[in-house]
Amino acid sequence: MSLSIGVIGTGYVGLVSGVCFAEQGNTVWCMDVDTEKVTHLRQGKSTIYEPGLEPMLQRNVHEGRLHFTDDLRMAVRNATVIFLCLPTPPDEDGSADVRYVLQTAEDIAAIVREENLGGRRIIVTRSTVPVGTSDKVREIFRRVAPDADLRVASNPEFMSEGNAVQETLAPDRVVIGSSDPEVVAVLRELYRPFVNDYDRPLIVMDEKSAEVTKYASNAFLALRISFMNELSRYCEAVGADVEFVRLGMSFDPRIGRRYLHPGIGFGGSCLPKDIRALSRSAQEAGAPLRLVEWTDRINREQLERFVNRIRERFGGSIAGRRFAVWGLAFKPNSDDVREAPSLKVIAALLGDGATICAYDPEAIETARRVVGERIEYARDMYHALVGADALIIATEWGEFRSPDWQRMKTALRGHVIFDGRNLWNPDELAARGFEYYAIGRRSYAP
Ligand code: UDX
Repeated sequence: MSLSIGVIGTGYVGLVSGVCFAEQGNTVWCMDVDTEKVTHLRQGKSTIYEPGLEPMLQRNVHEGRLHFTDDLRMAVRNATVIFLCLPTPPDEDGSADVRYVLQTAEDIAAIVREENLGGRRIIVTRSTVPVGTSDKVREIFRRVAPDADLRVASNPEFMSEGNAVQETLAPDRVVIGSSDPEVVAVLRELYRPFVNDYDRPLIVMDEKSAEVTKYASNAFLALRISFMNELSRYCEAVGADVEFVRLGMSFDPRIGRRYLHPGIGFGGSCLPKDIRALSRSAQEAGAPLRLVEWTDRINREQLERFVNRIRERFGGSIAGRRFAVWGLAFKPNSDDVREAPSLKVIAALLGDGATICAYDPEAIETARRVVGERIEYARDMYHALVGADALIIATEWGEFRSPDWQRMKTALRGHVIFDGRNLWNPDELAARGFEYYAIGRRSYAP
């Protein structure tokens, strides 16, 4: 059954969700306060880089199923299921700030009351919200529009950037947090094309458990990465190779292969922020999550260690040195630089008086908005190397994996590579005449 959907907020979560709901035949009203963004989207132009998103967006706009507006009233009038996909930025103490979510809930209730809109509306929190947010939203509805039929549910998303469209259309699981059978029935209907009974289930639970599930999932992924990052230090200390260890572990189905890659630490808009918010919430609840706290700490240390290794290689002072940085996005196939390890490395090196020329296949413009002209941006990966004392690998883009070694050697003045993503085999790099520092593996120093 085709439903009329509202999506409030057209960031990563909102835009991808809205487009995918439309793709499955629903009529979708996406609302954002940013009018410039809305104008772009109306013209079928995606405001984020996400493989497969733009053609799907264009098709659904063209076929009249996908609408964009900067007027919340339009979405509220037209939709019976409204997804809140709003940011929950970190507060000063690390906890998630739900101001935008609660304000929008208040605005929705006010519109329903003022316009005397009849019928049932289900308001679903889809962005990551702290436990108890659904209760707060329900409270707002009771206070602002006591006579309206406004229901609440939690439906956290689990998509990761770069695969967001695929993961939304065919999710591993859909989690619905609601104790209201009518709400569950509607959301079950909406998600019917996305799930199946065999390996992509729809799991129904209470709202609080759904809210915690989202944080727990992200924290566990982060924990795996921090485990491997800490293990990489041990491997270095005892002369083992963490990449062999990873491989040896990962074929155990109880462990699995994913999220075991050591590196310079995890970044992005979710993992770092969510583990801090979860730690904070757990402390406030009097049930601290110590593994999660250490996950964050190890992640910060990992980056510091990487930067310190660079400093040490140059005798403790890198002032006046020039570095090439390959990779700015926090992960490949994305133009997102939020909490990107690359930018933290760059900030540390700039702070020490080094100069930097960076290259990224997609994220130069987003990085420029944050870093400005304090660094140079190269037109291609080889251009970034010209005259540099060393190359730093910060993101594992596919095109970096099989470079033209001869061109690299010619352009890179110092044949020194700090590989924060373990792209290459250390023995091979040594044989090619590079001084090579990887993570948790043998390094080839002079
Ligand atoms: C994450 C979750 O995966 C997703 O379910 C949630 O909805 C949002 O947060 P995302 O932020 O897009 O998604 O990125 P993800 O692919 O999980 O990577 C996060 C960071 O971890 C990246 O910086 C990545 O480089 C790093 N990472 C990932 C590792 O260092 N090692 C790994 O093995 C995997």
